[in-house]
Amino acid sequence: MLLRHANSQSPILDTCLMDNHGRPINYLRLSITDRCNLRCRYCRPEEGVPFIGHEEILSFEELERLTIIFCALGVEKLRVTGGEPFARKGCLPFLQRLRNIKGLNSLHVTTNGVETEQYLASLSELGIDSINLSLDTLDHRRFWRITRRDHFANVMQTLQDIIERRIPLKINSVILADTSDEEIIGLARLAQKFPITLRFIEKMPFSGSARPEKLVNGNLLQRLKRIFPAMKECPQSSPSTARIYSLPRYKGSIGIIHGYSRLFCSTCNKVRITPTGMLKTCLYDNGVLDLKKMLRSGADNGQIEAAILYCIQKRCINGHEAELLAKRDKEPSMASIGG
Ligand code: GTP
Ligand code: 5AD
Ligand code: SF4
Repeated sequence: MLLRHANSQSPILDTCLMDNHGRPINYLRLSITDRCNLRCRYCRPEEGVPFIGHEEILSFEELERLTIIFCALGVEKLRVTGGEPFARKGCLPFLQRLRNIKGLNSLHVTTNGVETEQYLASLSELGIDSINLSLDTLDHRRFWRITRRDHFANVMQTLQDIIERRIPLKINSVILADTSDEEIIGLARLAQKFPITLRFIEKMPFSGSARPEKLVNGNLLQRLKRIFPAMKECPQSSPSTARIYSLPRYKGSIGIIHGYSRLFCSTCNKVRITPTGMLKTCLYDNGVLDLKKMLRSGADNGQIEAAILYCIQKRCINGHEAELLAKRDKEPSMASIGG
């Protein structure tokens, strides 16, 4: 459904995309590549994921056209993800082009920080609204074990540089079966020292592996409350994947993303496009619309809009329903979804 805001003064913000459960959709995630310079255990298998040919990946022109269509429908917030987005040549100029799209209010990127440092000056200049940086450990050797690559020093350099440039930063830390309390305390200390948000994430079944490790999320909130008895939940002004908590004498905050428990589905405001152009209306679905096929068979913007609207009217109520309907016998890889 497309609703007009009765009181809107803005010619840009006068549409609102609403799904079949009354949830406004205003957040689009574009995964621009499944390639990555890390091999995180929880995201993709050691041997990598099946190779996707260059021609199967949406071109930057196609991605830009889709973004324009989504923004005309009411999307205001865009996040560019991967794999690792900067592993795709041309990512920075693409971000610069996106900035000019009518209706787009905020532009964000999720990155692993391995090669990001060289782009930070330009990102700052183009007015990137925030960076989400993946970092699960502050221990060099453990970083190796989790990511199967030796790039810890680069990531820490990127982290330092983002903070120095005062680009708003959230750190994403996936909690694994062997994540210790000490590790959690060390990571949280970053939010004590700097005005950043440290978000602890429940591990989700997206390892791309045929024999995934068992999911042992437990009760993450209870665990954090035991470690940080003074944590206090902050009120939320807009829908978010994360619950945010303040702590005394912290410059920043900590957060929890209940991605496996799926506690935020009732306010879910986002859709995603995969590198091969599948529209996903839930992280847990298998893809609901082949946008690449439409783009490459000559569909006009009106036809693409209509197909998107149709899918948004068929959205699953939550990630549990989407997972059930997906009927998968193997975990997909997060690298080809983008988080
Ligand atoms: P903000 O826009 O800053 O709130 O970021 P985000 O949390 O939407 O995005 P990010 O790429 O930083 O992802 C952080 C974690 O949240 C990753 O583990 C994502 O897989 C997970 N996540 C993001 N969106 C969803 C969602 O709709 N459902 C679930 N279950 N997990 C999500
Ligand atoms: N479970 C939870 N989060 C994941 N991410 C990647 N794979 C998983 C998973 N299986 C996170 C990364 C990154 C974001 C895009 O998704 O840590 O920060
Ligand atoms: Fe790469 Fe991110 Fe997946 Fe790790 S989580 S392998 S950094 S895409």
